[in-house]
Amino acid sequence: MLKPVVEIKNIGVLTSGGDSPGMNAAVRAVVRSATKSGIEVLGIKHGYRGLISGEIELMDTHSVSNIIQKGGTILKSARSDEFRTKEGRAKAAKNIKKHGIDALVTIGGDGTFTGANILSEEHGVNVVGVPATIDNDIIGTDETIGYDTALNTALEAMDKIRDTADAHERMFLVEVMGRDSGFIALLTGIAGGAELVLLPEELTDVKEVKAQLNSMLENQVRSSLIVVAEGDEIGGAIKLAEQLKGDFDKYDMRVCILGHIQRGGSPTARDRVNASRMGAEAVKVLLEGHSDVMVGVVNNQTKITPIRVAVSRKKELDQGLLELARILR
Ligand code: F6P
Repeated sequence: MLKPVVEIKNIGVLTSGGDSPGMNAAVRAVVRSATKSGIEVLGIKHGYRGLISGEIELMDTHSVSNIIQKGGTILKSARSDEFRTKEGRAKAAKNIKKHGIDALVTIGGDGTFTGANILSEEHGVNVVGVPATIDNDIIGTDETIGYDTALNTALEAMDKIRDTADAHERMFLVEVMGRDSGFIALLTGIAGGAELVLLPEELTDVKEVKAQLNSMLENQVRSSLIVVAEGDEIGGAIKLAEQLKGDFDKYDMRVCILGHIQRGGSPTARDRVNASRMGAEAVKVLLEGHSDVMVGVVNNQTKITPIRVAVSRKKELDQGLLELARILR
């Protein structure tokens, strides 16, 4: 983690992968804390794609005015296929050298961190990762930037769907994001009082789902909300609806896919504060001589974790919360 880095005079910053609310707050914190320490900051547009094509421009404290409350990312984001190739990464490393970038702050999720790790291994680039993804699937931090906002967005939708489900005595299959990770589904399910939550981390037995729905019918439950993570074993809410069709017509079933609504919107206070803390910490640890780490907030304290460790395993769902969801349904 402590690498004899060159004196840091210039930091590059990018956002990459799926955007998440609070990325702007993190960019702002990187720019403002670096410039206060006399470090020049270069903003890289469109993530690794822009690093390869050279979309690099100087930022100053005014470039990040009036953005802390905004969703999306002023630096734009992308998923770059070219960066997955050795040739693409060599081009990126060349641009890093050309622009005199001494260290790179990469803001994003597991794909972004994997890219940063390879760039460091192959080309010796000093990198610090700031975890930002609505999926919350990164170890080394209690929450990733954007997760809290996405959760609250999904919950608000659940409450609204609950009203109409109740009025019409219908069953709703509500699909939330999370291809490989069930954090949004599980917490939305608990907070929204879902009757059932289906997660990518667990096997979905359709027979068992049907048995539970039958027992709800026997108990006169007239309306229900089932939260389905997009990456659950069955393959999402539409596929589940197809499998339930015919058996539960009494429920007058409907599917509602929340989709990219969960990625947008103004970040919550929690995401803004976490993002500000982590962005500033990224600069601080670089100036202290650390590299190839990610920053996080654990038990309300900032913490660094080697980036190779962060990409080596996925954060697991809390067993206690899984049990709670079962008890409360
Ligand atoms: O960024 C995470 C995420 O929102 C996942 O929850 C989802 O599976 C995926 O990104 C969707 O990606 P895209 O916007 O590229 O379709």
